[in-house]
Amino acid sequence: MASTSLRRLEGKVALITGGASGIGEATARLFSRHGAKVVIADIQDELARDVCKDLLSPATFVHCDVTKESDVESAVNAAVSTYGWLDIMINNAGIGGAPESKITETRLSEFKRVVEVNLVGAFLGTKHAARMMIPRQRGGSIVATASVCSVMGGVSTHAYTSSKHGVVGLMRNAAAELGAHGVRANCVSPYIMETAMTAGLGRDWIRGCYSNLKGVSLVPEDVAEAALFLASDESKYVSGHNLMVDGGISVMNNAFNLYDTGA
Ligand SMILES: NC(=O)c1ccc[n+]([C@@H]2O[C@H](COP(=O)([O-])OP(=O)(O)OC[C@H]3O[C@@H](n4cnc5c(N)ncnc54)[C@H](O)[C@@H]3O)[C@@H](O)[C@H]2O)c1
Repeated sequence: MASTSLRRLEGKVALITGGASGIGEATARLFSRHGAKVVIADIQDELARDVCKDLLSPATFVHCDVTKESDVESAVNAAVSTYGWLDIMINNAGIGGAPESKITETRLSEFKRVVEVNLVGAFLGTKHAARMMIPRQRGGSIVATASVCSVMGGVSTHAYTSSKHGVVGLMRNAAAELGAHGVRANCVSPYIMETAMTAGLGRDWIRGCYSNLKGVSLVPEDVAEAALFLASDESKYVSGHNLMVDGGISVMNNAFNLYDTGA
């Protein structure tokens, strides 16, 4: 556990969607080490309960499908009734979706499914967090996990790329509105790493993805550190920002292209 003087979220209450696994789990563990009371909202009940049991500060699990407004509303209400208020909302739950890369082969149902979880889920999380944060006038920090696909085309499917561009637009608009209430809204945008979401791609494929940075590879804990910065008072004047955790890949001009046919 971080020493008291280094605990950057002491006394804060954080709700993390998709906290049962991957980046969300790493974020829950890091926030807990920094003194936050954590509420995990996820659809994987058993995994989420196990993570909660392991955390160092008080932690609770709420079953929540982020595509259902009543679930998100209840999760936010549960955080407030259990711990008194809500300081931090991490809209992290997400899916990669089916690997349908070509626009002509992309099913409408699949496009909607990905947008529903990745973008509508973040909208509902932001809406209900703001519902609590605005009247309490204690400020607040809302962070969404976007992706390099929020600023680049051709790295993932049309559905995933659209959903992640949308999340950045949502956080920018939320920052514009909620600043008047002292509430900040930002994104964290990672490059690819091994988690349950990318398991289908295979470890070797992921490790084979070229990187711009020599000698380091991205892990969920790196993204959790970025979320900690945006959630804590250290970033008190940062709002409407999309923090890239990509080793500089998105500023290169020879990046991976899913549609590169070699022609
Ligand atoms: N892994 C990567 O390479 C990568 C890169 C960039 C961005 N991201 C983003 O990071 C976020 C976390 O993904 P991850 O890589 O940790 O994957 P993961 O599969 O390990 O974690 C995703 C979590 O979200 C939960 N979830 C999925 N659908 C949900 C729903 N409808 N309601 C509530 N919870 C739901 C899952 O149960 C899981 O616990 C996602 O938004 C993803 O798009 C991942």
